[in-house]
Amino acid sequence: MFDLKNEFLIDEDVIFLNHGSFGACPRKVFKTYQDFQLKLERQPVEFLSRQVPDLLAEARQELARYLNVEASDVVYFPNPTTAINMVVRNLDLQPGDEILSTNHEYGAMDRTWRFMCRKSGAKYIQKPIPLPVTNHADFIEEFWSGITSRTKVIFISHITSPTALIFPVKEICQRARQSGILSIVDGAHSPGHIPLDLGSIGADIYTGACHKWLCAPKGAAFLHAHPDTQPILDPLVVSWGYESEKPGTSQFIDYHEWQGTRDLAAFLSVPSAIRFQYEHRWDLVQQRCHDLARQARDGINSITGLEAISPDTPEWFGQMATVRLPISTDADILKERLYSEYHLEVLTHYWQDKPFMRISFQAYNQQSDLEVLLRALNVVLT
Ligand SMILES: Cc1ncc(COP(=O)(O)O)c(C=O)c1O
Repeated sequence: MFDLKNEFLIDEDVIFLNHGSFGACPRKVFKTYQDFQLKLERQPVEFLSRQVPDLLAEARQELARYLNVEASDVVYFPNPTTAINMVVRNLDLQPGDEILSTNHEYGAMDRTWRFMCRKSGAKYIQKPIPLPVTNHADFIEEFWSGITSRTKVIFISHITSPTALIFPVKEICQRARQSGILSIVDGAHSPGHIPLDLGSIGADIYTGACHKWLCAPKGAAFLHAHPDTQPILDPLVVSWGYESEKPGTSQFIDYHEWQGTRDLAAFLSVPSAIRFQYEHRWDLVQQRCHDLARQARDGINSITGLEAISPDTPEWFGQMATVRLPISTDADILKERLYSEYHLEVLTHYWQDKPFMRISFQAYNQQSDLEVLLRALNVVLT
């Protein structure tokens, strides 16, 4: 059940511990993707005009079922950055309006908010969330202390990129709704990584990537918008769905789904990725990978003597863990040494001017991969 390495296309010569950056797709799902691309090339008109509309609707329905939301409220986007750009450009931000976020957000999103704030005079406020995090109640109070009468929007990651922490977004979205504040959740890392029920989270806007932990081909992500929020969302790219000659049942879908001629094979392959995980008992894969992430955290912290960034519980991290590195570490040199000397692909980065390492475990990883990492770090960090 756990010997899934051969199911993936990852280069055998590399010990791949960075699923978090771009994901990895199983052979079977990739074959589905390429079959769709071949159909497109063999008879573009037949495929795009006659087959794709139904295939896309089915792919949307299967994704919606997986996320526990209505299919009319979820639409495919190529990546979360594009989805969030669409949303942010539609907010009627005024001088002095505030967007409350954290200092754990993904850099492309920070840039998107700063760009819009520069144009509108609104303020992007990144509430510092210090490490180690302790418990959800304290986290929520800490974050909420950043709310002011000018807060119009909350923007927060479900699982953070630099620190790989799971944030308690459900409680925050509920509180935002009670306070009349728009909630936008960046769930790029959540689908396929942790149990996900968007219906119960209740965000106004939630974006997620399917090509990361759900293991779909690259270029498959989604945006879910609560029906109350959909009317403010004009299309980022105006195409045939605007003033549609054949309107569907949802204007939201008409506006955002069709963005001109493009390769939709990644979207169409998402049901195959969902099926793959279901067939391979992903609940058990997630548990096994979480256990490897725990061991990696403990092992690296005992080499460095540094403190963990969160309590040791699946409440705070899943298949990825971030650890502190000694302050004197050059994160870029370390990454290159691990790759060139040990064939280890692992993310090292700076966050708040300090060096960190983020290790990801996926179905194709083995205990032996972790052992190679720890042996290598024992040499290069001491
Ligand atoms: C928290 C977070 N948000 C969003 C993204 C999406 O990035 P992109 O749109 O560049 O694929 C990532 C990618 O790593 C991420 O970690």
